[in-house]
This record gives sequence, structure tokens and C-alpha cells, in this order.
Amino acid sequence: MPNILLTGGAGYIGSHTAVALLARGHTVTLLDNFANAEREVPDRLAQLTGAEILVVEADIRDVETVATALADQNIDAVIHFAALKAVGESEADPLLYYEMNIVGTIRLFEAMQKAGTKNLVFSSSATVYGQPDASPILENAPTRVQNIYGRTKLVMEDLGADLVRTGFLKGVVNLRYFNPVGAHSSAMIGETPSGVPNNLMPYITQVATGERPYLQVFGNDYDTPDGTGVRDYIHVMDLAEAHALALEYILQTPGALTVNLGTGTGISVLDMIHAFERATGRTIPFKISPRRPGDVASYYANPSLAERLFNWKAKLTVDDMCRDSWRWQARRAGINDV
Ligand code: NAD
Ligand code: UFG
Repeated sequence: MPNILLTGGAGYIGSHTAVALLARGHTVTLLDNFANAEREVPDRLAQLTGAEILVVEADIRDVETVATALADQNIDAVIHFAALKAVGESEADPLLYYEMNIVGTIRLFEAMQKAGTKNLVFSSSATVYGQPDASPILENAPTRVQNIYGRTKLVMEDLGADLVRTGFLKGVVNLRYFNPVGAHSSAMIGETPSGVPNNLMPYITQVATGERPYLQVFGNDYDTPDGTGVRDYIHVMDLAEAHALALEYILQTPGALTVNLGTGTGISVLDMIHAFERATGRTIPFKISPRRPGDVASYYANPSLAERLFNWKAKLTVDDMCRDSWRWQARRAGINDV
């Protein structure tokens, strides 16, 4: 089975993908600078999977160290998660995002070239669609970058495709994630937002633990069925499984492609609050607040390409997403009756 290196492998999506890869018999090496990951993650992964987890503590811009790791571990493909991901921060410090995301990716490519590693799966984002004309969104919808973070994702997608076209890489899959939520059902790994969460699910779980008094629902006057924003939430374990299948596909089928990862179903903020209450038995107090600047009313994926190419379909439900997010957050908050 192939040897895979995960940049940002100790982070939220990377750690869950490691579980999915190990379950399918792959060997994984995590490369992370731990800027946004807990140091216990590799140990928890080892405990969870019973597998040996190789860890390289390094920055993706350290070409020598990354190239050595790729060569020493005989790496067949890289899954590239390592990036900064906060939209607001990217607008406040564009050069930091160009440096970490774009320059970082170029340095990774240099290391891959040195080591002769020619296959890549790349974490992109549905944010590249900006304000879509309509949902469900297909991969050939126009891209409308609305912030620096989105710009870096689009540039990174294009760089990978260029290197395939010019023969430096064999295969690249850009995966455009919709809204990843949830955690492994063991509650041993999950998402750890620092400070006040921006995203809906971490905020809801912190209201449920009592860390925050209520949720602000940003707008109930959108042109959506109940007036609140609609998104395509996808369980992180479904997303993880898709990475393993995308990787297996690209190793067999050289070329560059871009694939949406979502469930294909739009869920409103109120739907999510109700699902969370149903799945966990906790009450989520909320107040309707003004719209959040920059928010899109509604977007969700057409995930049919992923189904056709990878034979993948999201299986976990919104209730699963709520239950697993809650287990993870409750455990962190020391709440045991879940
Ligand atoms: P995360 O912050 O949990 O994981 C990123 C990991 O990369 C962290 O462990 C961090 O320590 C590491 N890292 C950051 N910069 C690094 C560097 N220069 N060198 C080495 N390691 C570095 O984020 P995540 O939610 O797991 O996101 C993973 C990828 O998916 C990112 O590229 C992100 O842009 C993309 N993405 C995330 C979401 C989401 O909602 N979580 C949505 C769409 C796309
Ligand atoms: N929302 C609230 N209250 C909150 C937080 C969010 O009502 O406290 C609403 C938002 O207005 C939106 C929905 O919940 O309608 C989802 O918001 P998120 O912040 O969870 O997700 P977004 O779709 O706005 O943004 C996410 C990531 C971005 C990424 C984008 C596209 O945060 O980084 O998806 O992939 F760019």
C-alpha cells in the first residue's frame, strides 16, 4: 500500500484523514509545525488506530527537511492540509497568507521535486465560488474570490494544475470542501478553535457547554426557506474517507482535477440548532442578530463528480454531525454525561 505524507496532519481535517487512511491500510507520516494543533494528537491517533504514527515536526517552507522526510519514508503522495484558514485574518494580513499558503506550497513543491514525489491531494475550499449564481454548485461554476484566503486557495489550485501540465507532477486532485463539522465518534480528536469561534458548529457546542450564553443567528431575512443562512455541512469523517478515495484514484489516474466535497443538501442555521437540540438533548438559546458582513445567503454542492470518480458519497447525517461535535466539545469541557 502507498506511503502518504500529510502536511498539517495533526490539524483538524488532517488527523481525521489519517484515521481513514490507516483504516484502508496506508502508511502515514504527519508533517506539522504544531502552530494550530495540539501536541497530543499523534499519541491520540496511535491510541485510536493501534498504528505507528510517524511525525516530522517541521514547517512546510523548510525544503531540506521536507524533502528528506519524503525521501526517507519513500512517500508516494502528499496530502497538503497545512495552511492558514481564517478569512478575517487573511484580509488583515494579506502578505502573511501569501507567504504561508502560496510560498509555503511552492516550497513544498520544491521538496517534492527534489524527492521525486509526484502526486498530490490538495485542500481547497468552496469559498472559491464566492457568491454563486445558484446551488447546487458544480465544479465548472465561475470562481469569484472574495477575500485573500480564497485567493490563496485558487492560486494553489492553479499551481498544482500547471505542474501537472508541464510534467513536474503526475497527479493532483483539488478538493473543494464545503462546511466540515463533527469529530471522530471516539471524541479523541476534533476541532480546537482558538478564542471565540467564527464558525457555527463550534459556537453552538460552546453554548451547549455553557461557555457562551447564547448563539447569535446572523440574519433571518435571507431569501431562504426560513430566512437564515443555508450551507452544506459535511461530517469530517466523510470528508476523511473522500481523501483516501481521491488519493487512490489519482495514483491510478494521472492528471489534474477539481472535485467538490459536500453532501449536496442545504441546511439552515435554524435547522442546525434544532438538529443539535434533538441529537444531544441540550437547549441552545439564540438571538436573531444582523447579517454578518460578507455572508452568502445559501450555497451547497453538487457532489456528483466525487461519486462518479471516487465512488464516494457522504453517509453521515446532520444528527451524526451534531452528536459527534457535542461529544468532542463536552469531553474537552469535562462534561461526562453524554
Ligand atoms: P487546521 O488549522 O486544524 O490544520 C492545519 C494544520 O497545518 C495545523 O495542524 C497547523 O499546525 C499546520 N500548519 C499550518 N501552517 C503550517 C506550516 N507552515 N508548516 C507546517 N504545518 C503547518 O485546519 P483544518 O481545518 O484541518 O484545515 C486543513 C486545510 O483545509 C486547510 O488548508 C484549510 O484551508 C482547508 N479548509 C478547511 C476548512 C474548514 O472549515 N476547516 C474548509 C475548507 C478548506
Ligand atoms: N452563523 C451564525 N452564527 C454564528 C456563526 C455562523 O448564524 O455564530 C451562520 C452564518 O451566518 C452562516 C452559517 O452560520 O449562515 C455558517 O457559518 P460558518 O461561519 O460556520 O461558515 P461559512 O460558510 O460562513 O464559512 C466557512 C468557513 C470559511 C470558508 C467558507 C467556505 O468559515 O473559512 O466556509 O468554505 F471560506
